[in-house]
Amino acid sequence: MKKIIFKTPNALASAFAEQLVNLASDKEVIHVALSGGSTPKLLFEILATTYKNNDWSRLRFYWGDERCVSPDDSESNYLMAKKLFFDPANIASKHIFRVLGENDPRQEAERYGNLLYKSLPIVNDLPCFDLIYLGMGEDGHTASIFPHEMELMTHQEVCAVATHPTSGQKRVTLTGPVINNARSVVFLITGTAKYPRIKSILKDQRDFEIFPAAHIQPTHGHLTWYLDKAAYEGA
Ligand code: 6PG
Repeated sequence: MKKIIFKTPNALASAFAEQLVNLASDKEVIHVALSGGSTPKLLFEILATTYKNNDWSRLRFYWGDERCVSPDDSESNYLMAKKLFFDPANIASKHIFRVLGENDPRQEAERYGNLLYKSLPIVNDLPCFDLIYLGMGEDGHTASIFPHEMELMTHQEVCAVATHPTSGQKRVTLTGPVINNARSVVFLITGTAKYPRIKSILKDQRDFEIFPAAHIQPTHGHLTWYLDKAAYEGA
């Protein structure tokens, strides 16, 4: 596991954007799962400006989780990526595999799981992403695996239906085994609000079993925490 600390969110997002660009020139087809939430916004803006004309044709885009809403809903993780990155960078729609948030959650979790088995290389009997980019909530959730649904960390299906603990919003999420089967998992975490969880998981290493993010431990791949000073030092 590697930790990289950055002075600012912009420096963090720029460094990860560069990693994505390098990955995009790496091999034939690269399967990447994106995160939702607000942190990716800065990354997408950098990709769509600094790297607007980059050759993204080798990348295949998926999601680590998606809210069960229509693709034109402001809550949609897909819509955020489309507006901030895919459209300005002219990413081919045939390379974008969104979770159909408008579908029945259970049926969509099954459909998306089948899609992953069909589209990705299989390693250890599970779909194997080249890169999964994750965020972490203040409660230590990641993707849409929340502390009250820890069984999703060991779920036998690669995709499952999750429920947001306060809003009750249904989500489709990758589950622990397929996340931990990736070649590379990267957390991008910024802001002082995340410091208490980062302190528990990466510093004190005490009472962290209750936080899903602490259970992201790739079985054969690499894990890298991209953190800004605010998230890592609390100021
Ligand atoms: C989602 C995300 C979720 C997110 C964390 C952090 O759909 O909301 O996938 O896991 O990464 O909640 O969100 P922020 O980046 O907004 O802090």
